[in-house]
Amino acid sequence: MSKSTQNRRQFISSTGKAGMALAAMPLMAKINPMSSMNSITTLTAAGEYAQQPLNYGYAALEPFIDAMTMEIHYTKHAATYAKNLADAALAEKLDINQTSLKQLLNTISSYSVKMRNNAGGHFNHEMFWQIMKPAPATAPSGELAEAINKSFGSLDNFKTAFSDAAKTRFGSGWAWLIVKEDNSLAVCSTPNQDNPLMNVAEIKGAPILCLDVWEHAYYLKYQNKRPDYINAWWNLINWEFAQKKYAEAITKK
Ligand SMILES: [Fe+2]
Repeated sequence: MSKSTQNRRQFISSTGKAGMALAAMPLMAKINPMSSMNSITTLTAAGEYAQQPLNYGYAALEPFIDAMTMEIHYTKHAATYAKNLADAALAEKLDINQTSLKQLLNTISSYSVKMRNNAGGHFNHEMFWQIMKPAPATAPSGELAEAINKSFGSLDNFKTAFSDAAKTRFGSGWAWLIVKEDNSLAVCSTPNQDNPLMNVAEIKGAPILCLDVWEHAYYLKYQNKRPDYINAWWNLINWEFAQKKYAEAITKK
């Protein structure tokens, strides 16, 4: 390990502050300092590779997700994925100025397992923070609401299908709502830090919603009761952001 890498690791591990971990990231130069979580699509390709600030405080999602879980999840788990992704990009000579994160995920089978795990881990968590906001949740509206009704019959049917995917994902992974190539909506889940943008994914599509069902996302508050965490999470959905992702997905086709 190089001295600079070692120093960076020591720096990150010695701080509990998201902003400090962010400052330690090696790929920050091209990030627009005015960017927020809701304008992440304006980031440069290189900027997408760095952890972005949270739009809310660690305690903002209480009582559904506790502050300690959020702080550890953001400053330790997610920060580490971003850091390891940066390390893998350097080691594998990935041109992050020219390769968007989505392009990387679309071609992930050409890279190492380290790149796969950490590119997925970084992308998934960045989306996860944005898809949540402090309660109370609103409801989906507009085109997304219509698409959910068309694909699942009702919002309740969709929630049941999504919750079942999250509950039954064995071990660690994620549940997803995606737009498939034919513009229909589907629910699926992925193992580990894989996601539906990866060319290795069993079911591919553009992510609209995602739920982290790794134990690190809920164990402090919910222990082995993953279904309780899933039920609570529905109170935190940022449907406006989901609608934005849906509009982007169907427009780009
Ligand atoms: Fe996580």
